[in-house]
Amino acid sequence: MPPPMPATCWKTCAWPGTARAFMRACCPRSMTRRRRALGIDGVEEGVLAMMVLGRAMPPAALPAAGPYLPGAAAASTSIGVTGVIQRATSLREEAAPPGELIPLPAPVVAGKDLYATIAARRSERRFGSGPVALETLSSILDGMAQPPQLSAAVHANIVVNRVAGLPPGVYRFLPRQHALVRLRSGDFATAARSAALSQDVIGDAAVVLVLSAARVQVLAEGARAYRQVLIEAGLVSERWLLGAAARGMAACPVGAFYDDEAAALLGADPKEHWVLHFAALGLRP
Ligand SMILES: Cc1cc2nc3c(=O)[nH]c(=O)nc-3n(C[C@H](O)[C@H](O)[C@H](O)COP(=O)(O)O)c2cc1C
Repeated sequence: MPPPMPATCWKTCAWPGTARAFMRACCPRSMTRRRRALGIDGVEEGVLAMMVLGRAMPPAALPAAGPYLPGAAAASTSIGVTGVIQRATSLREEAAPPGELIPLPAPVVAGKDLYATIAARRSERRFGSGPVALETLSSILDGMAQPPQLSAAVHANIVVNRVAGLPPGVYRFLPRQHALVRLRSGDFATAARSAALSQDVIGDAAVVLVLSAARVQVLAEGARAYRQVLIEAGLVSERWLLGAAARGMAACPVGAFYDDEAAALLGADPKEHWVLHFAALGLRP
């Protein structure tokens, strides 16, 4: 007999057929079947994540910013004694970097329909030469800062090249305070371009989002932490891209960068602090 399905899995399945297929796919014994279906061997390549697709929610507006509660999603899952031990021994949050808090202006929720935004969004690699409004940056950062779903280890840093009222430099975004802390002062457009394999999409951007994680914090999150922090970074980046698209901005995700140069851009030691992802932002040309 396959193990019983958690009630939440059943609830999210819109159709009985979907539920049956989902149960078959979730059964640990069907791991071989899943691999076979995907044509992978499970050694060189494995199943990373699964997601159920179904009709459930009515069309929604872009998510409004809720309270930022690091680890809230992870804490609400029930994985018994393992979960209790894991939570008790986890480093939930790395201390914020030292420095003066730079408060951001109040965010403005984008009124655009979420599904229309998803359908219309495209990567854009050319940018206008003007600055991004600080209120726009603040709103995009706010929409991006949802409670973590898989890992609380992802940090959002930004390389500011052209933002009205914010001097160029490298900043860490602190979601709970909705504020920035300056990590480095100065013009880092050339350093960012070079770190990203000299791609213009990064060198010409008004702002570059650099997602990173402290090694010690990732390792404290458990055996699957490396996998989960990468998926979490993908989710964060998607919200950055959608927030930009909803506000008429140009944006593009970028995964091609030199690890050491990217960490140096943040003023970090690449052995202790891992850069996970870049994403560019700017005005439409
Ligand atoms: C993880 C990731 C890494 C990417 N890296 C780069 C990159 O290094 N350079 C680039 O120009 N585009 C990069 N892209 C953008 C993709 O080329 C682009 O998203 C893809 O062509 C799909 O186009 P769309 O975003 O318009 O749907 C990356 C996208 C993702 C998701």
